[in-house]
Amino acid sequence: MKKRILLTGAGGRLGSYLREPLSKICTELVSTDIKKNIGKLNKNEKYISADLANFDQICEITKDVSFVCHFGALVDELPFNEMLGPNFIGSYNVWESARLNNCKRVIYASSIHAVGMYKRTKTLRPKTPHRADGFYGLSKCFTENLARMYFDKCGIESVCLRIATCSPVTTARSLTSWLSYDDLIQLVMRSIDTTHTGYSVVYGVSDNDRSNLSNIDSGHLGFKPKDNAEVYASKIFADDLTEELADEGNKLHGGPFASTDLGVSAMDKMKIVYAHRGEYQDER
Ligand SMILES: NC(=O)c1ccc[n+]([C@@H]2O[C@H](COP(=O)([O-])OP(=O)(O)OC[C@H]3O[C@@H](n4cnc5c(N)ncnc54)[C@H](O)[C@@H]3O)[C@@H](O)[C@H]2O)c1
Repeated sequence: MKKRILLTGAGGRLGSYLREPLSKICTELVSTDIKKNIGKLNKNEKYISADLANFDQICEITKDVSFVCHFGALVDELPFNEMLGPNFIGSYNVWESARLNNCKRVIYASSIHAVGMYKRTKTLRPKTPHRADGFYGLSKCFTENLARMYFDKCGIESVCLRIATCSPVTTARSLTSWLSYDDLIQLVMRSIDTTHTGYSVVYGVSDNDRSNLSNIDSGHLGFKPKDNAEVYASKIFADDLTEELADEGNKLHGGPFASTDLGVSAMDKMKIVYAHRGEYQDER
């Protein structure tokens, strides 16, 4: 049983899936988000509303915490000044608080958008150098570098999860990039359970036949995804893919984030492009 675990972004989509399993492996789960409340709490869970951009608040809730799962962020391509507080300063606040409070490790929800400008024909590895596809991706590159520095200089371990598409499969691209919710939970659990992680980077992707994200450098984490997006392929290819395939971003790993202009919402664009499918692909 781990001691206290802090989960940021607990009121978000991925945070909501992680709260229950995390609450079962620690003496207390401290869930936090900027939202006023996040609904019914699990046994062992307490909720504290806090702003990632506020150092004093983040430092206070990190006291006596052994692991931080850092999932809070603004999750879209937005103007730099909007991202600066939550995504850049927020990351500094998390790692500096972890240092001051002697936390062992931070598990960070990074993103494929840290390397989103690579062509999709190229297989990416954890060691592949950064190539952000916008300010959002840049905030993930910044935080991965911050995590590296805090390990090298202060010994705080980090596992950076370059999550690809953790949402329902509704596009051809997500047949390659999908991460199921069960595989996300396994990935976070392995990131906590592994005895020594040092500074690690791992792709958050399921065992998809079409994936070209390789975790060859991260075998020490023992992540063995169980799901495969191929089960959705016939449904996807039965649909009209003309609009999706016409988007230049779909030639790149970042997809619509890679083709939107700097600071311009990719989520809004996806809502328009995929509106005809009833459910647009919410891929971040
Ligand atoms: N869903 C995906 O496919 C995906 C892919 C790659 C990376 N990620 C990363 O995973 C994490 C969670 O993503 P999600 O899909 O659950 O997004 P989400 O938007 O549902 O959750 C993010 C949460 O962060 C909170 N937040 C935003 N600003 C904050 C602030 N200033 N202070 C405190 N909390 C704040 C929001 O209120 C929200 O509840 C994010 O870091 C995201 O970048 C997600």
